[in-house]
Amino acid sequence: MSCLRLGVLVSGRGSNLQAIIDAGQKGEIPAEVVVVISDQPDAFALTRARANNIPAIYVNFQDFPNKEKYEEKVAAILQAHKVELVCLAGYMRILGASMLEAFPNRIMNIHPALLPAFPGLHAQARAWEHGVRFSGCTVHFVDEGVDTGPIILQAVVPVLVEDTAETLAARILEQEHKIYPAAIRLFAQNRLRIQRRKVYLK
Ligand code: GAR
Repeated sequence: MSCLRLGVLVSGRGSNLQAIIDAGQKGEIPAEVVVVISDQPDAFALTRARANNIPAIYVNFQDFPNKEKYEEKVAAILQAHKVELVCLAGYMRILGASMLEAFPNRIMNIHPALLPAFPGLHAQARAWEHGVRFSGCTVHFVDEGVDTGPIILQAVVPVLVEDTAETLAARILEQEHKIYPAAIRLFAQNRLRIQRRKVYLK
């Protein structure tokens, strides 16, 4: 099977990026990260990419007159690297029309909650504070909303009596590192079919 070309957008530490790189390098998924783009100059994810000889590019939002122009630049970099699937991995910006139109149904995101519960920021702490018995993580296709797109995979993580928001987040993260590569594998194998807002697995 040919290798799917991935572009990963990041803003921070990049542990999901690392999980995707590792899965590709070990041959667990027929996919390869060919470029990493960050909106933060000091994101550790950029260091991880460089350590793996992957082009790591910082694009400064402030250099552009508006979000559309910024996204056109990001999309142009991805296209120049012949990216087939864009993975958001801790990328803390909401995508606009330019990116969505450049990669229709070809952008995935990972979110640290069982969507549609707790979209947006600080999802793990908000779930813990709310007192849910179960939380988890979700990989979904990206649409114009905030964490609203069609759901591909979810993993459930029970909340333990002794949990703090931090220990819960750490156990959710372990599952993120499993289901993100798994979702990419399904995409690479052409096994995902989107109908309205549901994703069917072939
Ligand atoms: C992950 O927990 C990811 O699910 C979350 O940011 C963290 C990034 O960690 N994303 C969001 O909250 C997006 N709404 P990482 O940089 O170590 O992959």
